[in-house]
Amino acid sequence: MMKLLCGGVIFTLVLSYYIYMPLPASVSEPWKLMLVGATFRTATHLADLSHSLGLVHHVRVLNLAVTSFESFVPLEFEDLQTEDTEFHGVQVRVYMPQRRDSTLRRAVVFIHGGGWSLGVPKLGSYDLLCRKMAVKLNAVVVTVDYRMVPDVHFPVQYEECLQAARHFLQPDVLARYSVDPERVAVCGDSAGGNLAAAITQWIGQDSRDNDVRNSSVDHLKNDSRDDVQDSSEGGGIRFKLQVLIYPVLQPLDFNTASYQQNWGVPILYRDLMARYWLEYLGADASLLHTVLLNNHTALDESRADPHRSKVDWTSMIPQHMRKHYRAVFPRTGSPSVLRDVPAMLDPRAAPLLAEQEILKMVPGTYIMTCEHDVLRDDGMMYVRRLELAGVSVTHRHYDDCFHGCVSFAFWPSYFFVGIRAIDDYIAWLHTHL
Ligand SMILES: *[C@@H]1O[C@H](CO)[C@@H](O)[C@H](O)[C@H]1NC(C)=O
Repeated sequence: MMKLLCGGVIFTLVLSYYIYMPLPASVSEPWKLMLVGATFRTATHLADLSHSLGLVHHVRVLNLAVTSFESFVPLEFEDLQTEDTEFHGVQVRVYMPQRRDSTLRRAVVFIHGGGWSLGVPKLGSYDLLCRKMAVKLNAVVVTVDYRMVPDVHFPVQYEECLQAARHFLQPDVLARYSVDPERVAVCGDSAGGNLAAAITQWIGQDSRDNDVRNSSVDHLKNDSRDDVQDSSEGGGIRFKLQVLIYPVLQPLDFNTASYQQNWGVPILYRDLMARYWLEYLGADASLLHTVLLNNHTALDESRADPHRSKVDWTSMIPQHMRKHYRAVFPRTGSPSVLRDVPAMLDPRAAPLLAEQEILKMVPGTYIMTCEHDVLRDDGMMYVRRLELAGVSVTHRHYDDCFHGCVSFAFWPSYFFVGIRAIDDYIAWLHTHL
């Protein structure tokens, strides 16, 4: 009996030690977040263990965990027709509201997050989020089930989202779904926000080319656009709006004020985010410590020079949010990284690095950022750069929110901040789309 009791006490102590993590006082529902964080950490540890034993890629273990978790989420908003199909060879699911009136409907293209490697768009919280958007906006919602790491790396995720969107934006496809071509938005969270921002920049250039066909816009073209150019598609229709939910936008500075402040806040830890970047860009995982030190963009790395002002958070983020944090750029670093992984400087991977004339063509934008999120400053810098380019931007910042909250807004992990954040951006779309 005594032994059992002792065992019980020790087990409880070890468990609480494992679950407990110091969280900022202003984060919403901290105990719930701690539990979610502990679950996530357990899955990550198991995944890393299987990975290092050479059994299976860690991403596959995590995706299995995500899939099992998501299967517990009960279905709501069932009053919808869905169609699983392919757009230009890319898997998509289309949600169509039942209520049919004669007028054309609005539409949202949704791109899910998960570090370009995780997430099951047709199940659980992402499925429910799309259903909720479709019902509340009486809109057609297309969710893109793009392929992910480790099966594919940049630029495949980007290209698949672009192809699916361009396919949908054709006049005859929109007509088939009774969608008003003037009222299509794109929306994405986290890595999905990265992909949404990147394809929106592209589609902006694309439609400008159509608008001013035959006039000289050649300076806007770069070599990469030929990869996905398909003259049979895209009739110059572009997104009316974009919604970016805590987007990830740049891999040049892993020591922004928000990276420094929130390195250990669940569920997106700083080293995890850097790891997702390296895997997305097909870089060697052993570069993790190098990039965490900003060695890849040290001051002696001239390849980074043209982009430094675009990620200069010390000038773009208000003092009260920067607090006491200082920029971290070593004088000398590891110049081989940007040479070996040039995609780090490619705006298709890092939309914050786009030139001003590209940003000018970006449609009206809603950006949501969370205080307790390593990516807060990525989003805030994009807000600033878009404003400077003359884009109309609505910025919602949540003081009590953590990264991923929008995916934890459905039973069994019902975070009030997540529900509020979803309702807020849907209300914005309802007014502006
Ligand atoms: C960072 O760069 C310095 C200077 O070149 C080098 O000595 C150091 O080993 C690098 N650190 C990592 C982790 O790459």
